[in-house]
Amino acid sequence: MEHKGFTLWFTGLSGSGKSAIADEVAKILIHRNMKVERLDGDIVRKSLTRDLGFSREDRDKNIERVTFVAKLLSRNGVATIVSFISPYREKRDTAREEAENFIEVFVKCPLEALIERDIKGLYKKALNGEIENFTGVSDPYEEPENPEIVVETDKESLDESVVNVMKWLEDNNFVPPSEEEKEIIGEKEEEEIKKRLEMLGYL
Ligand code: ADX
Repeated sequence: MEHKGFTLWFTGLSGSGKSAIADEVAKILIHRNMKVERLDGDIVRKSLTRDLGFSREDRDKNIERVTFVAKLLSRNGVATIVSFISPYREKRDTAREEAENFIEVFVKCPLEALIERDIKGLYKKALNGEIENFTGVSDPYEEPENPEIVVETDKESLDESVVNVMKWLEDNNFVPPSEEEKEIIGEKEEEEIKKRLEMLGYL
């Protein structure tokens, strides 16, 4: 079966867990025989957008280019999984208009929790003024107003967030149910058929 293309767009502060959740979802979709591509800030900024920094203008260009790639992929049936801070609502809304079946995932986590965790050590530097224009500290982050999915990474485990995203994709028919679920459905159907045959006196 040919699957519908879509753009699953993770947005949220640095260190909120976008890449970790997106990577896990990508693995599951590959396992379900879907065509999958990943576009991730830390990786794309080393190639397609390596000329860009973190001014508003550069972030906008970053997201514009990624939107263009996501549009090409998603309209050709690819499950396109995108993870960028993408702090500006206007650019995310453009991505929504241009990409096929745009699904916005807000990876929500309070700044205090991120400063506490500080996996990359960037918040400490930003707070000390060693990095300028750092999102959440000295640069804005505009929260999504109507995201399709919200995951709260200070309250949920990685697995829980992944399950929440997968459930949304399955409930909205972007992803076929897993083999295990199919078996359960299959068993139920078998029971129904058996019951009907019994009623009709065949069994
Ligand atoms: S975006 O704003 O243009 O969408 P993107 O997701 O590509 O950002 O890149 C964010 C990553 O760049 C962060 O996870 C962090 O590792 C690094 N980074 C370096 N400088 C900054 C900064 N000033 N603000 C935010 N992230 C930064």
